[in-house]
Amino acid sequence: MIRIKNNGEIEKMRKAGRLAAQLLTHLEPYVKDGVTTLYLNDLSAVFTRMHGAASAPLNYRGFPKSICTSINNVVCHGIPSENDVLRNGDIVNIDVTVILNGFHGDTSRTFMIGEVDRKTEEFVQRTEKAMYRGIDAIKPGKYLHEVGKSIEKYIGKFGYSIVRDYTGHGIGRKFHEDPQVFHHFTKENKIRLRRGMTFTVEPMINMGNSYNVKTSRSDGWTVTTTDGSLSAQFEHTILVTDNGAEILTQL
Ligand code: MF3
Ligand code: CO
Ligand code: CO
Repeated sequence: MIRIKNNGEIEKMRKAGRLAAQLLTHLEPYVKDGVTTLYLNDLSAVFTRMHGAASAPLNYRGFPKSICTSINNVVCHGIPSENDVLRNGDIVNIDVTVILNGFHGDTSRTFMIGEVDRKTEEFVQRTEKAMYRGIDAIKPGKYLHEVGKSIEKYIGKFGYSIVRDYTGHGIGRKFHEDPQVFHHFTKENKIRLRRGMTFTVEPMINMGNSYNVKTSRSDGWTVTTTDGSLSAQFEHTILVTDNGAEILTQL
């Protein structure tokens, strides 16, 4: 069941989304060569608490930390650790979700550390563009599957692949609500978009030609590409409006 948000709920979603965006911007100057992902986690926890919010990932289905940090071939759900030191040439996705006044704001970006090679830079930039292509396809009255269709149309030409095992999601009082938002084209998303829907668009793109991923058997969370290729992701929480989408996780 898709929960349509009323005006009061929309205002709270705007505030939560804005705080999540502010958190990513707060972290940005620290995302540099030599920093550990645990340090970024701890900065996030403090910032979130200082703003009267909570970190949604912490203890979510047993997740042990406040944010997800996914380096290079890690697709998503990387666990911050003092052993993971960011190095020049790495790419890292930082995914933050806050709960403010009972509502969630969920956003992520892939950062490049120092100098990354040109092919990698291009890949990361195209992944961001793919997310915006998906968001641009959102219009009330249209089908939700336009999102995946438009991402697939754009990303198809590069020889990359769109991860299928993880999707965007409705969001509100709950972290993950209906609907599932596929980032590739599938008829499963034959849902009419309506004003007041809030969901995420968060394509995970593998640089190689396989969309297959696997989950670590030791920590139960870390998802990696099966072919060892790089994976990038960008995420925004959006609201369907009368004429398109409003990005809630943007400053
Ligand atoms: N923030 C992720 C998303 O975009 C979910 C992380 S779940 C966690 O949906 F448990 F790993 F935190
Ligand atoms: Co997220
Ligand atoms: Co999400």
